[in-house]
Amino acid sequence: MKVIKLLTGRPLPQALSVEELETPTPGPGEVLVRMHAASLNYRDLIVAEGSLSGAQQAKPLIPLSDGAGEIAATGEGVTRWREGDRVVGSFFRDWLDGRFLPKHMQSALGGAIDGVLAEYRLFPETALARMPTHLSFQQAATLPCAALTAWHALFEKTPLLPGETVLVLGTGGVSVFALQFARIAGAKIIATSSSDEKLSRMEQLGASGMINYRARSDWDQAVLELTDSAGVDQIIEVGGAGTLQRSFSASRTGGRVSLIGRLTGIEDRVDPRPIMAKGLTVQGIYVGSVAMLERMVRSIEASGMQPVIDRTFVIDDTAQAYAHLKAAAHFGKVVIEI
Ligand SMILES: NC(=O)c1ccc[n+]([C@@H]2O[C@H](COP(=O)([O-])OP(=O)(O)OC[C@H]3O[C@@H](n4cnc5c(N)ncnc54)[C@H](OP(=O)(O)O)[C@@H]3O)[C@@H](O)[C@H]2O)c1
Repeated sequence: MKVIKLLTGRPLPQALSVEELETPTPGPGEVLVRMHAASLNYRDLIVAEGSLSGAQQAKPLIPLSDGAGEIAATGEGVTRWREGDRVVGSFFRDWLDGRFLPKHMQSALGGAIDGVLAEYRLFPETALARMPTHLSFQQAATLPCAALTAWHALFEKTPLLPGETVLVLGTGGVSVFALQFARIAGAKIIATSSSDEKLSRMEQLGASGMINYRARSDWDQAVLELTDSAGVDQIIEVGGAGTLQRSFSASRTGGRVSLIGRLTGIEDRVDPRPIMAKGLTVQGIYVGSVAMLERMVRSIEASGMQPVIDRTFVIDDTAQAYAHLKAAAHFGKVVIEI
């Protein structure tokens, strides 16, 4: 079988190599999945640069956490799946349900353990969810990380209520999914972007307030202008240290800030006083469990939601797919067909 490997100590694209390995056979409790598509996340750039903390990163490694495919063979004792079932992998192989524990970190695909950029991959039968029936493999491959993270932030802690207002930062994978889920829940959405063209696409997807954060570096004030000075109920905080202060400022009193990303880096001074003064809830979100993935799949099916794919590459053009994500010209998800 063909696999892509990410090699130690080399920059992209030289770090990527195509290898032929023997197709594995599933052992007891395992299934062999014929992977049909994978998708890229910002994290995959961090992994390729070698800047995930050492404990979280195996090298060399088959990259990418997100993939969809069909069951090709089942091992002894497998009861959940049959040959031909269409499935998505869980970002954390071992976080099945309940509270996130440090040991789950050691089971993150495409980081601590091999990922999905291979023609075949073995999974424990518990580490998969069925694909939403209306989606293609390419669409389903966008779900395990970005979509589940947005879903977790909006619904798995304090669920978003119809009529609440959500602020999404930028138009990458997590933020576009957050917009789509928030719309399904009957919320209002304010979106920021560096691009007016991308903002008009957010409007087409249902955003009612649009702010160009390049034109308005005081985008938190723009959010307050759009909300009669009240601020928003929930923020999908993918920016990190460089946006967090303005996110506190754009929150309404009692609002929730889901701390998800680090697009602007991790080292900056943040004044925590607004958390106390405004009674904010700041909640860290780390993708999600298999049980959350299953709940999200049900919701996507019930709503008929269609993931937004920016561009699809073939596996031989994996290096171009990474370069496309790095250029940040994309809107939504970047997919690789396997
Ligand atoms: N905690 C978790 O479980 C988890 C899960 C998934 C992702 N993440 C993190 O979340 C972040 C987003 O991931 P992703 O995969 O969605 O990324 P992505 O698809 O690569 O999105 C990148 C987009 O972010 C926007 N952006 C960049 N700098 C910005 C800024 N200063 N203010 C507002 N928007 C900005 C840009 O949108 P415009 O082009 O529209 O300006 C850019 O296109 C990353 O830091 C990633 O590591 C965390």
